[in-house]
Amino acid sequence: MKKKHIATSGGVRAVALVLAALVLSGDVAAHGTSFNYKDALTKSIMFLEAQRSGKLPHNNRIKWRGDSGMEDGKLAHVDLTGGYYDAGDNVKYGLPLAFTVTTLAWAALAFKPELQKTGELKNVHAAIKWGTDYFLKCATKKNHMWVQVGDPNLDHQCWVRPENMNTPRTLYQIDDKTPGTEIAAETAAALAAASLVFRNEKAYSRRLVNKAKLLYQFGKSHLKTYDGECPFYCSYSGYNDELLWAATWLYMATKRQVYADFISHEAISSSVAEFSWDLKYPGAQVLLAELNMTASGGLQSFKTQADNFVCAVLPDTPFHQVFITPGGMIHLRDGANSQYVTGTAFLFVVYADWLHRAGEKVMCGDTPIKPERLREFAKQQMDYLLGANPMGRSYVVGFGVNPPTQPHHRGASTPVLKPGTVVNCGMSFGDWFAPDRPNPNELTGAIMGGPDGADKFIDKRNASACTEPCTYINSLAIGPLAALAGRGPKLVASH
Ligand SMILES: *[C@@H]1O[C@H](CO)[C@@H](O)[C@H](O)[C@H]1NC(C)=O
Ligand SMILES: *[C@@H]1O[C@H](CO)[C@@H](O)[C@H](O)[C@H]1NC(C)=O
Repeated sequence: MKKKHIATSGGVRAVALVLAALVLSGDVAAHGTSFNYKDALTKSIMFLEAQRSGKLPHNNRIKWRGDSGMEDGKLAHVDLTGGYYDAGDNVKYGLPLAFTVTTLAWAALAFKPELQKTGELKNVHAAIKWGTDYFLKCATKKNHMWVQVGDPNLDHQCWVRPENMNTPRTLYQIDDKTPGTEIAAETAAALAAASLVFRNEKAYSRRLVNKAKLLYQFGKSHLKTYDGECPFYCSYSGYNDELLWAATWLYMATKRQVYADFISHEAISSSVAEFSWDLKYPGAQVLLAELNMTASGGLQSFKTQADNFVCAVLPDTPFHQVFITPGGMIHLRDGANSQYVTGTAFLFVVYADWLHRAGEKVMCGDTPIKPERLREFAKQQMDYLLGANPMGRSYVVGFGVNPPTQPHHRGASTPVLKPGTVVNCGMSFGDWFAPDRPNPNELTGAIMGGPDGADKFIDKRNASACTEPCTYINSLAIGPLAALAGRGPKLVASH
């Protein structure tokens, strides 16, 4: 059984090792490397299209995908079709789905010129809308939200493509008796960020921001962690990071003082070394550094906390904590580890852009770090996934040298069946999961969970820590890939 995420950020500190010498040689190896970043960008967006649930549009580019989950919501007489499957299974999990959309929206805002230049802005907007349309269906009543479709335990007992699934589409909800601050606040963040992306579509944008305000209010007034998804996507880090993150996006979308007051006086913020679907502090801190705000209690500026994130990651600072493999990749834990790689690359490019514009540097104690160093490290992390790694192979399906052939993914590894074909769950694992052969359908653009802490990767379907993709690995990759494709290797913005 697949459990998502196994340790808190505290674990990061526990495994902090000094491998500076090895890391520097990895840096040098990656320096000057180049890939077809435009191709990687295009494909990374296509992977999100392969994860779509519901009725697919006529311009669907993934030929082996069809309509699925068409009765989602029926158990409660509501329409919950649409949204995304998170990874290699067929469940729609609220928390990671919302984080995927928040980070996609951020990419669309921060890298708009590059996405325009590469012709991908429309596709990213469509990817965001596929999520926000679904959230609007999930949150129609005050202090209530549908947060998950599909029973994960039963789903995991059947290796079936979503088009032919017959597993229970159990519905999960939060309300004032069973609140869920993380999910409510993350969804608020997604809707607020998307309201900025779609600000030219006035009515839609207003709907999004109004819903965002209500969900934030619900999460904030009913403080509780929702454990319904455990052991799948349990919130390990608590809800303080989601509240800060949501208030930040709402402040940016509305400029209302009430959010600024919460951010400056009430919210809890702390320095961590991870940016992920569970832990959003560094994302909020980078945004708030740009807004020149001060953390709760007025003790630290958010810039200091954003700096601390950079210092914890970079191997060449006195405060580095994060384990970096001998080949130069950030490795926090096995299973969807690539999210830390793409997430760090994303934040580093965004933060470097602001530092550059503001004439600022990162301070790690007395050691100044220039924005160029953040860009170089971001490029190296992305290049690692694209092929500049000790195994000399690509970790993106359908891209580059020796790409993965056996993603741990139901739809990609099972044959296209006629609608209505009844699949025997007992046989499905023997027929489609176990065989040691390439998937019949190419899961184009999927970035794999990735290699382990020794840079080792197993291209087998059952090695799910290595070969399972996730929507948020890709949503976080889109920004840095757009920057690499649209700006050139030095990643300096012309805007
Ligand atoms: C940031 O805020 C501080 C006071 O809180 C002020 O002194 C400083 O000039 C501001 N910096 C910018 C760039 O606005
Ligand atoms: C994983 O699958 C391969 C064949 O693809 C097989 O040789 C190996 O034993 C399997 N490993 C486990 C842990 O089941």
